[in-house]
Amino acid sequence: MASETTLVLVKPDGVRRALCGEIVSRFERRGYELRGVRLLKVSRALSREHYAEHVERPFFGELVTFITSGPVLALAVRGENAILGVRSMIGATHPADSAPGTIRGDFATLLSENIVHGSDSKASAKRELSLFFPDGLL
Ligand code: RTP
Ligand code: MG
Repeated sequence: MASETTLVLVKPDGVRRALCGEIVSRFERRGYELRGVRLLKVSRALSREHYAEHVERPFFGELVTFITSGPVLALAVRGENAILGVRSMIGATHPADSAPGTIRGDFATLLSENIVHGSDSKASAKRELSLFFPDGLL
């Protein structure tokens, strides 16, 4: 048994397209538990911290512009092996490669507007949860 908590962001495109309920519902139906929920506008400072691993990449500026372009829904999602399980429900990074049945495979076509973020490791989950839920979780 390895219960984990991971960070999911419904990115601005997902919020604009009114997909929050659908996405939350998928995680709940899988059996994961919501431990934190916040609708917020990401500041440029927070976006730069969140995407720190990508700072040297040519698309870093686009990432910052996009994630700050409107509200995001931040979710702390808990369950057995939740970090990997959530990533598999999200699907491959590029929607062209995302299998039908995954969130990106069902709702996205563009790499730059791929609807959701999910933490990719235990270390990332810990770091990202503390950025988006600085007061801790229930
Ligand atoms: P995320 O962090 O959003 O969950 O996505 P991911 O782990 O599947 O992919 P990652 O490598 O962390 O990339 C973060 C986001 O950057 C955009 N991206 N653009 N132009 C490009 O080559 C490129 N590569 C990645 C995507 O929107 C990706 O979700
Ligand atoms: Mg990533």
